[in-house]
Amino acid sequence: MRRVTSEEPVYVTIELNGRRMTGRATARMLLTDFLRRELGATGTHVGCEHGVCGACTLRIDGVAQRGCLTLALQADGRKVDTIEGLSASKDALSALQKAFHRNHALQCGYCTPGILMSFSDFLARNPDPDEREVREVLGGHICRCTGYAGLMKALMEAAAEMRRVSSETTDAELAKSQ
Ligand code: FES
Ligand code: FES
Repeated sequence: MRRVTSEEPVYVTIELNGRRMTGRATARMLLTDFLRRELGATGTHVGCEHGVCGACTLRIDGVAQRGCLTLALQADGRKVDTIEGLSASKDALSALQKAFHRNHALQCGYCTPGILMSFSDFLARNPDPDEREVREVLGGHICRCTGYAGLMKALMEAAAEMRRVSSETTDAELAKSQ
């Protein structure tokens, strides 16, 4: 991590959802504030700012992390993925987002970006989770209005859909190579 000894802002460059972006950050500025205030990426929400509620979850170099427990300087030179980059476009939702939509897994939507970013990492590492594993990851997120039944249903359904798409892709690749 870069060492900054003064309170003067310094330039921080990250690859945000595949795009190189630069802004200014002071030594103690949180990554969430840097994204929202400096880069205008307001999709990452801020709740407790203590690492508890999960609203600020994003991916750094592919791994889900709390944006409120990360300094902007710690992200310098790294890949940061946020909810804004989860789907190819606003008309082409990801499998996770579609499952949330189908199962009414959100109401106010405040917790939603964090949950989606958490599970985009989790399901990439564990494509065939059981309910206990999904509950465990979901336990790192506080949702105050939807209720967890819809969330569980959406997450299990998204995992199944992602497995189906991935096996179809593998089958198509195998057929091409034969
Ligand atoms: Fe980061 Fe609550 S705002 S965990
Ligand atoms: Fe409102 Fe989760 S949808 S807090």
